[in-house]
Amino acid sequence: MAKNTTDTAPIVELHEMGKLYGNFRALSGINLAVKPGQVTCVLGDNGAGKSTLIKVISGLHPYDEGDYKVDGEPVRFTTPREALGKGIATVYQDLAVVPLMPVWRNFFLGSEITRGPWLVRRLDIEKMKKIADEELRAMGIHLDDIEQPIGTLSGGQRQSVAIARAVYFGARVLILDEPTAALGVKQSGVVLKYIAAARDRGLGVIFITHNPHHAYMVGDHFAVLRLGTLDLSADRSQVSLEELTNHMAGGAELTALKHELAQVRGVDVEELPGEADLSASPASSS
Ligand SMILES: Nc1ncnc2c1ncn2[C@@H]1O[C@H](COP(=O)(O)OP(=O)(O)OP(=O)(O)O)[C@@H](O)[C@H]1O
Ligand SMILES: [Mg+2]
Repeated sequence: MAKNTTDTAPIVELHEMGKLYGNFRALSGINLAVKPGQVTCVLGDNGAGKSTLIKVISGLHPYDEGDYKVDGEPVRFTTPREALGKGIATVYQDLAVVPLMPVWRNFFLGSEITRGPWLVRRLDIEKMKKIADEELRAMGIHLDDIEQPIGTLSGGQRQSVAIARAVYFGARVLILDEPTAALGVKQSGVVLKYIAAARDRGLGVIFITHNPHHAYMVGDHFAVLRLGTLDLSADRSQVSLEELTNHMAGGAELTALKHELAQVRGVDVEELPGEADLSASPASSS
């Protein structure tokens, strides 16, 4: 994993980027470089600006300050479709799937393959099934039946299908907004595995999460947001899981809270869970 971050050119690059909602400054001074074959983790507490950051990158919101470049060229997207045209795909947590439709149908939703001449053009069902099956297998996703309704898959599997879909349709940068937030330990593991698979296929992955443990399992670079600014931006070699957890939790605040709790409950501080234990608990959904 953790390839050398200095030797590849970034696909997505932000320089001193800022974003305002009216008078409210949601982001300022954001520097970020997303490189192919690497997982860039964006961490931060509720309201830190994670979703706002990916909305800017994915073309949903304009930015107000600084620069945004794709392949070294300045961009100013006005719609997500423009970003998609540059290979920047976003998988949202509430996946846009049709639960009762088969997996292969959802795989091609909105981009169906057709055959035959105009007027008698029909869906090329066999071809779509074959491709969906091959693509899922190529990502290491083994489903019993490509015909099963996507609603019968687990949350982790559904996320995985969405990842495979983005890869097939030519994504170069894959943005995942809290894909593990609503999942249990095992299902989170499933999603982390496919994040790694997407990275191994050369995509630049932006993985948004509350959970430093999940981030550290797959991350090559870590950006921690705090009140709209970068609190930490470090490569894997520069930061340990403990340091990352501390940045996330606000180490000092957590220690103070622990002492307060101990007083209230009249227990020994040592009996309370450590910082790592606290942050290991399932992250709250956004
Ligand atoms: N459309 C909007 N208009 C005005 N303010 C907004 C808008 N969207 C977000 N904000 C504000 O910007 C800040 C950052 O929000 P954002 O959703 O980016 O945080 P987040 O890190 O994704 O949080 P969470 O972990 O809860 O998802 C918050 O204070 C939020 O209230
Ligand atoms: Mg969010």
